[in-house]
Amino acid sequence: MTDTTFRSPNKKGKIAVFISGRGSNFMALHDSIKKGYINAGITVVFSNKKNAPGLQIAQDRNLEILYLRPKNYESREDYDMAIAKELRSRDIDLICLAGYMRILTAEFCREFKHRIINIHPALLPSFTGLHVQQKAIDWGVRFSGATVHFVIPDVDMGPIITQAVVPVLQKDTEDTLSARILKEEHKIYPEAVRLYFEGRLEVRDRRVLILDSLFKS
Ligand code: GRF
Repeated sequence: MTDTTFRSPNKKGKIAVFISGRGSNFMALHDSIKKGYINAGITVVFSNKKNAPGLQIAQDRNLEILYLRPKNYESREDYDMAIAKELRSRDIDLICLAGYMRILTAEFCREFKHRIINIHPALLPSFTGLHVQQKAIDWGVRFSGATVHFVIPDVDMGPIITQAVVPVLQKDTEDTLSARILKEEHKIYPEAVRLYFEGRLEVRDRRVLILDSLFKS
């Protein structure tokens, strides 16, 4: 008996992308889907910010967009429940957080367990939270990078799917390091979603195994 807890589905997936800002990771995902690299479609692009630039881009790309105004809800739980209802009605397989700046409630994370992934601009578990590129520079690490991980109620702590490493240069500013990391984000996020819908991600406790990987040995 193995202790496998989750195996991602091998199917054409329905994705909801959550954004709060410019949406470059959303675009990278969408571009990869259009090229046939990922076996999925973006069903809806959701935002908690009415004027998120990425929402406008999604609209220009003829994708369904959805905005819910947080102030219309009494609590974070109510807000997330409203989102969950929208997702259920669209039969969403995977939620891709892409610069979504609200912390999801534990209840929401539980309902969509193993169906929410996030991209973080540092090598987790180092540098959680915000402004992590500056934190990496200030700490003096020689390398930082990006991480795609499953989302659990503990922020930035879910099982890691893919990572990319970039050097931290002595002359780096928050902006230059962010740009170097972002380039890698746009590669590893599509890669992680592709693996997900190829049915190749297996979560065993904290570890995510990539099935049939060239790098398994
Ligand atoms: C990215 O750096 C991502 O890692 C972080 O938020 C930023 C979003 O950028 N979670 P964008 O909106 O995808 O361009």
